[in-house]
Formats: sequence, structure tokens, C-alpha cells
Amino acid sequence: MTADGEEDVAGLRLAGAAVAYARDTALAAIEPGISTGELDAIARDALASHGAVSAPILAYDFPGHTCISVNDAAAHGIPSMERVLVTGDVVNIDVSAELGGYWADTGASAAVGEATPLVERLLKATKLAQADAMALAKAGRPIRLMGRAVQKRAREYGFTVLENLNGHGVGRFIHEPPEVPSVEHRGDRARLVEGMVIAIEPFLSLSATHAVQDDDGWTLRTNDASLVAQFEHTIIVNKGEPTILTLPAFVP
Ligand code: CO
Ligand code: CO
Repeated sequence: MTADGEEDVAGLRLAGAAVAYARDTALAAIEPGISTGELDAIARDALASHGAVSAPILAYDFPGHTCISVNDAAAHGIPSMERVLVTGDVVNIDVSAELGGYWADTGASAAVGEATPLVERLLKATKLAQADAMALAKAGRPIRLMGRAVQKRAREYGFTVLENLNGHGVGRFIHEPPEVPSVEHRGDRARLVEGMVIAIEPFLSLSATHAVQDDDGWTLRTNDASLVAQFEHTIIVNKGEPTILTLPAFVP
């Protein structure tokens, strides 16, 4: 959507705050021995405390309130009480929800227990790549420049970018135009427009270039079973700095 006026911005801020709170509450609960199903229940309760409704359920009848993806699973992982996290796992929690007619989307990856130096590097590079792309999100600029920045950051750290998972427009539904690729497609002439609401979500991997669908019909895994990380924020495009709707929330 394109945010038009104070009412839209206020509504989007509330939706953004709800998903950020649920993301951070679930992230704070990550520890060896907890299951992805338990993390999902924590995020579910956090969304409910804001009056927000899970987007994956509302839009896609997904079997979970959030998507929780472990190790080589990049996205759309199904939360499960049977999937108990152990030290060394890399877990991604992706939270999207609707509140008052507005939709927001966010995600973050974290290590379970103490991270190895390699995982630490992957998380750092992915977070930086996401921030690089956000810094280029200004009205009038070509969308493809964000993909170029993500690729540059990934290369600097010796990692790869999943080319077939895109960011997207959001705001009045969970997935709206335009696509926001994490790699540069040279022929892409699309430009950012003032007020445009987009989710920027690069996926960086140790070596994979694509995600492929698992037999469960939902989970997207790296094509070579290598580890992957993602960070995602929903923003409003402005002439200057974007308005980030899903900044870290206060978690008591
Ligand atoms: Co998204
Ligand atoms: Co998401």
C-alpha cells in the first residue's frame, strides 16, 4: 500500500509494534530445550495482547501463528512441539499480523546457545545487508539498488544470497506489489514511491543460492542444505530516511 496521511501511519505503527513485540518476546525465550511450538505459542500470546491476528493463518491458513525455520530452513517453517532446539541450531522467527486493517511483517534469526564464530558472522552479515537495503529505500530510487547492496554485503563476508526469496509490498495485505528482490535484476525499472510500505528481508546463506520447497508443502529450505539467516523490517518509504515500523520493542 501507499500510506496516505496520519491515519494510515498511525495504523501501520500499531501493526508494526505488535509484530515487533511478538518477534522480540519469542526471540528472548530461545534457549536449548525449548520447542519451536512453544516459541510460536509465546508469539501468539504476544500478538493477542496487542489485539493483532496472525497473518499466516488469516491469509494462508498456515499451520502456525508464526513461521519458525531452523538451520537450512529459510522460511515458512511449521512450528512444532516435537522440534526441540539444541545448542548450535540457528532459528528464524518470522512474525506477520493484521491489526485494525493494517498488516506488518518482521523477522529475525538467532543462534541457540553460544554461536560459533561462523554463525556469528552469518548473523552479522545478514543484519548489515538488511540495514544497507533499508538505507537505500528512498522515494524515487530504483528498487534494484537495494538488491545490489545486499549482494555486495554478502560477498564482502563470503556468503551467498537466496535469489528466489523476495521482500514485498505490505500494509493492506501480507504480500502486495512490488517485489523487493535481494539481488539486482538489471532490467528492473521499478522505483520506490513516497509512502510505499515495503518489507525488506534478505536471506544470506553459507553457500546456497536458492530456496526449494520441502515435502511438507510449506517449508522453504536452502538448495544445498547449508545454514541460512534472515532479518526483516516493514518500512514506510519517505524522501529522506524511511520510517521503520518494526524496530525492537521493549520486552519486560
Ligand atoms: Co515478508
Ligand atoms: Co516475514
